Amino acid sequence: MPGKPLIVAIDGPAGAGKSATAREVALRLGVPYLDTGAMYRAVALAAGRAAVALPPDEAGTGRVIELARALRISFAGDATAQRVLLDGADVTDELRTPECSQGASIVSTIPEVRHAMVALQRSLAAATGGVVEGRDIGTVVFPDATLKVFLTAPPEVRARRRHDELARRGIRVRWEDVLADQLERDRRDSTRAHSPLRPAEGAIVLDTGRLTLDEVVARLLELVRRTLTG
Ligand code: DC
Repeated sequence: MPGKPLIVAIDGPAGAGKSATAREVALRLGVPYLDTGAMYRAVALAAGRAAVALPPDEAGTGRVIELARALRISFAGDATAQRVLLDGADVTDELRTPECSQGASIVSTIPEVRHAMVALQRSLAAATGGVVEGRDIGTVVFPDATLKVFLTAPPEVRARRRHDELARRGIRVRWEDVLADQLERDRRDSTRAHSPLRPAEGAIVLDTGRLTLDEVVARLLELVRRTLTG
């Protein structure tokens, strides 16, 4: 019988260092990288383009569900330069705006949207395995993952990182606004009724506030090695 594919589940709040860590760990392990937040962002982008009202608007919620079920979300390129395609068109850069961040957090509260995204995530990673990052990977999507990690860091550190990342992409925003935005998202992501953000059972919780990216990556690779060798 073929063994279970290797899955590293990385969850945590915005700005905890999930993406940078997940990309590097995927590269080092030679497995695919799956950014599930990009999927919720793609749904939010499509809703915005279609001028669909977001929850709590009821009619809008129905339309968002239809959109999420019909969209074709795919990924191209490797972990270092991954592109996100929406119905075949590259939308990678559009997904990173503050509006898209808030929109993703809102559409991700809709159970039917989550259901559609979770099915897609499982179908993408089940055969090949990979490093999968998000909010509910260890709790819902892959509870049997090889390794489950919950990355966190103090809010001010996370806001600073996100601010600097946006600046590198040419998006100019005030640090205070990033912090306020992030706190609002964290609150929504952790208090929603369906699959709220929380550490999975058996997850290793790691505060990245005082660690460099290299240190976090080394720690995770060591944890994977230990898990695999028993
Ligand atoms: O990781 P990110 O910032 O790109 O995620 C954007 C939003 O999508 C986040 O605020 C909550 C939602 N999300 C989710 O609910 N479940 C996931 N697995 C990934 C993201």
